[in-house]
Amino acid sequence: MDTKKIKALFDCELEDISDVFIISEDSDLENQNQTNAIFSEKWIKYSREEIKQQEALFKFQKAWYLDLYSFDSEDALKEYLQEQDIVLDAGCGLGYKAKWFADLSPETLVLGMDYSDSVFPAAKIYKGTENLKFIKGDIANTRLKDSTISYVSCDQVIHHTEDPEKTMEEFSRILKKDSELAFYVYAKKALPRELLDEHFREVTKTIASDEMWEMSEQLTELGKTLSELDIEIDVPDIPLLGIKGGKMDVQRFVYWNFIKCFWNEDLGLETSISTNFDWYAPSNAKRYSLEEFIEMTTKANLAQNYIHSEEACYSGRFKKL
Ligand SMILES: C[S@@+](CC[C@H](N)C(=O)[O-])C[C@H]1O[C@@H](n2cnc3c(N)ncnc32)[C@H](O)[C@@H]1O
Repeated sequence: MDTKKIKALFDCELEDISDVFIISEDSDLENQNQTNAIFSEKWIKYSREEIKQQEALFKFQKAWYLDLYSFDSEDALKEYLQEQDIVLDAGCGLGYKAKWFADLSPETLVLGMDYSDSVFPAAKIYKGTENLKFIKGDIANTRLKDSTISYVSCDQVIHHTEDPEKTMEEFSRILKKDSELAFYVYAKKALPRELLDEHFREVTKTIASDEMWEMSEQLTELGKTLSELDIEIDVPDIPLLGIKGGKMDVQRFVYWNFIKCFWNEDLGLETSISTNFDWYAPSNAKRYSLEEFIEMTTKANLAQNYIHSEEACYSGRFKKL
């Protein structure tokens, strides 16, 4: 790896700690700092989980990534990445997608940036990958020079940043002209669930993280119990509450309209608990309507190339004009 070449992409000095380049360790903003601490805790705990569980999650997430960003297959993503010289995985978490990109396209330099401590286990696990570098810092202030990046992938992250519109402007600034940003936001759900979700954005700051883990276990148990009922109900349309009618499994009905109580047998218990934790524990976790999602990109001088929408989220690829 050409360390000098990587350092030259930034407008600041980069300290090297345990094979991670450091731009910034902490935020001055209370919510961002709390969010970083929550993800540090989640990822460090999860990186110690058995490899089998991690692999099941990574496999599921990679297949979903192709759907979210309209790549027909892994080969299509590979071909796409091979046309890029520098890729940023913005908010890379444990770094398995950055590692995936780097393996698919060995001539591309892949930078994985995250504000949590996840970058330390990531750098250790993927140490041998020459074209991959992890960086600790804020994706809303990357310190990358203008127009340096040919693909920004920001998967399931931007809504955790303090001011997503500002983060979007930063992506637009660092992208080369005609290059793409792939990103994802949480979708707004029915009113009762939104009210509860919003409540937690504030109160989570005053609850000990042990208690948040405990609640995540309880919610996982609830999700499992409801799933095992295996009952479908006829739900009436309740427009004032944003509840959509139709035949629906009882766990899905509760999940989409009232409480996130994630349970997925294939992913396993620990992954399900950590999914519930990462929903309720961070104080930064905004949700969007489709219009708000698109508006954010037009404001940042990005044009739609692909849009994908599902109940949980909106995602797409957008071109820098
Ligand atoms: C739900 S995780 C997604 C991780 C990864 N993209 C994936 O798909 O596995 C959200 C990540 O965003 C990171 N994050 C939140 N705010 C950030 C910021 N301002 N700068 C960099 N990373 C941030 C968190 O630390 C966390 O690792």
